[in-house]
Amino acid sequence: MNHLIAPSLLSADFAHLAQDIEMINRSETDWLHLDIMDGVFVPNISFGFPVLKYVAELCQKPLDVHLMIVQPEKFIPEVKALGAMMMNVHYEACPHLHRVVGAIHEAGMKAGVTLNPSTPACLLKDIICDVDMVLLMSVNPGFGGQKFIEHTVDKVRELRELIEKSGSKALIQVDGGVNLETGKRLVEAGADVLVAGNSVFKAADPVAMIHELKSL
Ligand code: DX5
Ligand code: ZN
Repeated sequence: MNHLIAPSLLSADFAHLAQDIEMINRSETDWLHLDIMDGVFVPNISFGFPVLKYVAELCQKPLDVHLMIVQPEKFIPEVKALGAMMMNVHYEACPHLHRVVGAIHEAGMKAGVTLNPSTPACLLKDIICDVDMVLLMSVNPGFGGQKFIEHTVDKVRELRELIEKSGSKALIQVDGGVNLETGKRLVEAGADVLVAGNSVFKAADPVAMIHELKSL
């Protein structure tokens, strides 16, 4: 399949959110990626449901919610109420991951599992057939605009092999430091979805940048 582009709202201009969402709506964006942080699981706080309610009302693209929080299962009803298509939870935040994935599915959403850079892909062997997506962090989560961790390219290849061997249909998404250069190598290695924050929202022409990322 052709790869998908999911710009991350974390890098948008929060003083003019409506304008940035309007740009997303008229671009070739596939999904809008929403980064929720709690200051506990990651050393930063972003935005929460009262803000995202308005984002969801304005956005015409499917919502891909990335929860960088402890006990993400507590917020399944809130994520569902946003109308989210995908709910991503961190492997490192869920001791009972199988149960959480089941609860996300029961709520009617697709379930993604996210791995920090230091968590190996092979740990997903026993859950890979139950998830719709694996989100590989290519920076330590918490902030936009960080440097891409090179090892992620090999990790995409390794995960692709695990997915193919197991017969899983999971997509591979990569998040952090994605631009035209790293994005091209990730797609060649087997990534299905590229998250891009700074490279899109800080571009002189974000709509053109989304087109270029989509054309890799
Ligand atoms: C990092 C977030 C990312 C981030 C990506 O914790 O999960 O989605 O916004 O931003 P860039 O593309 O600027 O690295
Ligand atoms: Zn993210």
